[in-house]
Amino acid sequence: MTEASAVPSELIQGPVLVAGGAGYIGSHTVRLLEERGIPVVVLDNLSTGHRGAVRAPLEVVDLADREGLAAVFARHRPAAVIHFAAKCYVGESVHEPSKYYRENVLNTWNLLEAMRAAGCRDIVFSSTCATYGQPVEIPMTDAHPQLPISPYGRTKLHMEHMMQDYGRAYGLRHAALRYFNAAGAAQDGTLGEDHDPETHLIPIVLQVAAGKRAKLDVFGDDYDTPDGTCIRDYVHVEDLARAHAAALAKLQSGTPSIALNLGTGTGFSVLEVIAAAERVTGKTIARTIAPRREGDPPRLISGGTLAGSILGWKPERAAIETILEDAWRFLGAHPRGFETR
Ligand code: UFG
Repeated sequence: MTEASAVPSELIQGPVLVAGGAGYIGSHTVRLLEERGIPVVVLDNLSTGHRGAVRAPLEVVDLADREGLAAVFARHRPAAVIHFAAKCYVGESVHEPSKYYRENVLNTWNLLEAMRAAGCRDIVFSSTCATYGQPVEIPMTDAHPQLPISPYGRTKLHMEHMMQDYGRAYGLRHAALRYFNAAGAAQDGTLGEDHDPETHLIPIVLQVAAGKRAKLDVFGDDYDTPDGTCIRDYVHVEDLARAHAAALAKLQSGTPSIALNLGTGTGFSVLEVIAAAERVTGKTIARTIAPRREGDPPRLISGGTLAGSILGWKPERAAIETILEDAWRFLGAHPRGFETR
């Protein structure tokens, strides 16, 4: 298939129920759908999402609340679902697997059951390159073996498997979008990453530049990489949002279920990210070398081609400077985050 086979997302049939739509990637996707005139309903328990990140109708419901979920489906009759509502920290998942199996696996089962009862059959959801585990090849293709090494990665793989089984038995169609490292912010500075506590590299680097943190701990400089620090494939959150719209349009056009990588194919080391952030912000970023963080693979770089061939997607804001500039603008506009829950 060529890029010309992409289905314009304006053809999406709504309303689209966006679970976790008040969160980081969810809020950017909601904004994009609304800009394209597609009706959206956000469902979020606001445990980590922000009321201030959403202008669309918001249902504050937890996915564990099956009656509440059924009522939302009855009220809005969604034509499709985009599912972002999940826990996403590798380290935390090692220490609190119960939370991850409950919130990622059990709550996704609740959501699929609500869809089944309502006759709603298309779902796009956040999977992750963490379902692959340790890379057996770099770059990592869409067909890389899935051998996750963390409870987080395993719960996301269970979610993929659940949807495959529901597809075979009940006709559910799904798009599993395996993100590499989501980063950046809306170009206009109104939406961005606001986690508490923050664990991700780019927001932490920028908080140091802004004087909100004294320094950055570089987790290991003795990896087998050119400068000894870990290499990641950072993909802009607005590019991710476009991929969700394209995947939903594709599913609704009748394509079978799909699973694919979303990355840029280019990796940057921790030290390269710091150097780029110093160029973008004009600030010196204090750092110390700290021990390796448990479970960090040295390199994660996407080599997937299906996003291009099936969705006609390619990243438009791939430059690391662009990602950092957008995130820096958001931090400047929201020095204390969204300040809403
Ligand atoms: N890092 C530091 N110091 C910090 C924070 C991060 O050196 O204070 C390093 C990490 O060790 C890693 C890189 O920066 O090498 C990126 O770390 P992030 O925490 O920003 O992102 P991860 O690669 O750990 O995690 C991302 C997603 C997960 C996903 C995972 C796949 O956030 O959801 O990729 O491995 F599961």
